[in-house]
Amino acid sequence: MDYFFTEDQMALQELVRQIADEKIRPVAAKLDREGTFPWDIVKVFAESGLYGAIIPEEYGGTGKGIVELAIISEELAKACAGVTLAVAASALGTFPIVIGGNDEQKRRYLPDLAEGKFLAAFCLTEPDAGSDAGAIRTRATRVGDEYILNGNKIFITNGGVAHIYTVIAVTDPAKGSRGVSAFIVQDDYPGFKIGKEEDKMGIRASATCEIVFDDCHVPAANLLGREGEGFSIAMKTLDKSRPGVAAQALGIAQGAFDLALDYARKRVQFGQPLVGHQAIQFMLADMATQIEAARALLYAAARMVDAGAKNIAQPSAMCKLMASDVAMKVTTDAVQIFGGYGYMRDYPIEKYMRDAKITQIYEGTNQIQRMVIARTLIREAASKG
Ligand code: CAA
Repeated sequence: MDYFFTEDQMALQELVRQIADEKIRPVAAKLDREGTFPWDIVKVFAESGLYGAIIPEEYGGTGKGIVELAIISEELAKACAGVTLAVAASALGTFPIVIGGNDEQKRRYLPDLAEGKFLAAFCLTEPDAGSDAGAIRTRATRVGDEYILNGNKIFITNGGVAHIYTVIAVTDPAKGSRGVSAFIVQDDYPGFKIGKEEDKMGIRASATCEIVFDDCHVPAANLLGREGEGFSIAMKTLDKSRPGVAAQALGIAQGAFDLALDYARKRVQFGQPLVGHQAIQFMLADMATQIEAARALLYAAARMVDAGAKNIAQPSAMCKLMASDVAMKVTTDAVQIFGGYGYMRDYPIEKYMRDAKITQIYEGTNQIQRMVIARTLIREAASKG
């Protein structure tokens, strides 16, 4: 189907497709097996300007938007979802500065992030605050012209490889989610520590670890917005970033589908290629239809965000929910088409199924997406009386 991308968007798609095919595909299995972070590919992303997509031109970016971020994530994830996160998780960590930063903070941090000189990461999740983001306990206490941070953040994508961390912490425990604030924290601040590195089922080329704040000294000038605005900044960040997760999921689904179709054309059973069997034809037809439906919802949602629509929580949650469920279904069916070979690590397909699973979990589980969607539906209905 034609999504009527502009010439610039099509050129970006072609550029990223080429990077994915030439630089990522040949090493994806090795990176997955060894769980190594792809610094050499990050260099290519940086040289190609991919880190600047969501950063305004006046701060060194290319001033594009969520459609472009989705194009980048979709094309990269067709080759390897883990490598995709070197860009996507940096965008997630950068959004709070774009959304809540003042001019001075933007001038200080965004140009280097746009160049890919530094990577960013977003620190919200804690051991006892996953889906319930309002339950975070990391404390930020104002002392003179600094905040002192104490607490642990877990499952931080780009943890340990990023230099800039946007951190959500409690400044006033009596005020609940209105007592939460957002900070820019550099990895060279005293008291910033890297904790446990995770050994993951999928997206193994991405870096995921715990971040520990042990009396971490953060300049008061690094507070994003005002005290108490942190929860809102975090939610607005996720609203902008969730279409990117949908795009990763879509890329994973499309990548797996392409491999399954190719295999089904070549594999002969009962005297004919698998594509000659109606059972397989129906599977392929359903997979392709689900992928296209997810793509249509993603790019509709991404365009709404870029157009400055007011209520983006619902479309953003819808496209993340749908694309990640599609990715899980399509990759599972793709393994099925490969049969016994699909279950073996010698073939590339099982990696797609492992990579798909996280898209149903991170940046809000799909149960949370349903909750967000339902709440907006009920609110809309109530406003109509
Ligand atoms: N935009 C702006 N403000 C919002 C908002 C939004 N989309 N959603 C909620 N808020 C505001 C509300 O208006 C409310 O403000 P007031 O108190 O001023 O009225 C405040 O936030 C609290 O809202 P709720 O009462 O709705 O909050 P809640 O406690 O019921 O939780 C939730 C809401 C949507 C479930 C939220 O907790 C949530 O999104 N949870 C999932 C967290 C998540 O996605 N975690 C993933 C971490 S990122 C990640 O995965 C890392 C990685 O490395 C990939």
